[in-house]
Amino acid sequence: MEITQEGVRSVLKKVRYPGFTRDIVSFGIVKDVKVEGGRVSVSLVLPKPDHKLETEIGESVRSALLETPGVSGVDIQIGAREPKSAPGHGPAKAETPSKLPAIKHYIAVASGKGGVGKSTVAVNLAVAMAMKRKGVGLMDADIWGPSLPIMLGVKDRPHATEQNRIIPLEKYGMKLMSIGFLISEDETVIWRGPMVHGAIKQFIEDVEWTDTDYLVIDLPPGTGDAQLSLVQTAPLSGGLIVTTPQDVALIDVRRGVQMFRKLNVPIIGIVENMSYLEAPGGENIDIFGRGGGRRMAEKFEVPFLGEIPIDPEIRKGGDSGVPVVISKPESTAARAFTELADIVLRSVENT
Ligand SMILES: Nc1ncnc2c1ncn2[C@@H]1O[C@H](COP(=O)(O)OP(=O)(O)OP(=O)(O)O)[C@@H](O)[C@H]1O
Ligand SMILES: [Mg+2]
Repeated sequence: MEITQEGVRSVLKKVRYPGFTRDIVSFGIVKDVKVEGGRVSVSLVLPKPDHKLETEIGESVRSALLETPGVSGVDIQIGAREPKSAPGHGPAKAETPSKLPAIKHYIAVASGKGGVGKSTVAVNLAVAMAMKRKGVGLMDADIWGPSLPIMLGVKDRPHATEQNRIIPLEKYGMKLMSIGFLISEDETVIWRGPMVHGAIKQFIEDVEWTDTDYLVIDLPPGTGDAQLSLVQTAPLSGGLIVTTPQDVALIDVRRGVQMFRKLNVPIIGIVENMSYLEAPGGENIDIFGRGGGRRMAEKFEVPFLGEIPIDPEIRKGGDSGVPVVISKPESTAARAFTELADIVLRSVENT
């Protein structure tokens, strides 16, 4: 039986990307497949150089293909995407012009579980960073449940230039992009994998992120299409994992850590949100059992970035479009976000 290119691709669709439930084809790392007689050549491109991952994927691809009838030999080439050169440095290659904007640091805010306060942390972190540095942007990669329009009180629609580039909206000194600016609240869009990838890529490549040095990216929960698309599109400087202290949330921290590790994204650290409640008398009440985030950080040997208290002002800030770092800058909650901003800036500026 003769093997065809299509046949090879369907075999590759059964090879999982290590650490994910997804296959290497939908992951986008299969660049080329050639078939000559029974000899199959496959070229793969990883998000970043990683010897261990190369070996692991190479072996799985080889054995899957060799088990396929009609395949007599397998030739695998594995490369890695070139790291982005710093803006203004390095020769611009005419044949493959990079569409990436000149953003210095892409900072992703992720969580294994939904509803832990990822968007709240992303928004307050970005605003706190913007109070310290010029050139901060905030992008909502949660295309299923965009939060930025409400959390920042922005209802406008972005304009496009004549070249069809999107001009981001601005608030609190930051440039902003969210799918929520483009579709109305009650519109439902059924996003299929390639559309998700297209949207995330467009939000990075087709938005005028001019003068943006730090782009904070709010991810949807989990380890799905949006996370993969983002990593394939932009060279992330680091990822933050947000959790709450309960065991149910902590279990999912592992997934977040593994995701970043498998994708070679440096982990900036773990933030524990809704850590404790400050009672009016001054004592702290550990509603959900404070300290789980720190334990997880120790367990996975990543930095622990701090505890954000439960504060009704945080929720009000999220609902009213005025984040707590602006409305109550002296509160414990706002100070926790400001300290987080310091740590994150220090972390990415040292890489
Ligand atoms: N520390 C806090 N104190 C009080 N309320 C908070 C705190 N953190 C988050 N909230 C509130 O909890 C709700 C969920 O937060 P948020 O939307 O940021 O979570 P998320 O992880 O982004 O959720 P999703 O997974 O749906 O994207 C919001 O109403 C928010 O205002
Ligand atoms: Mg969110």
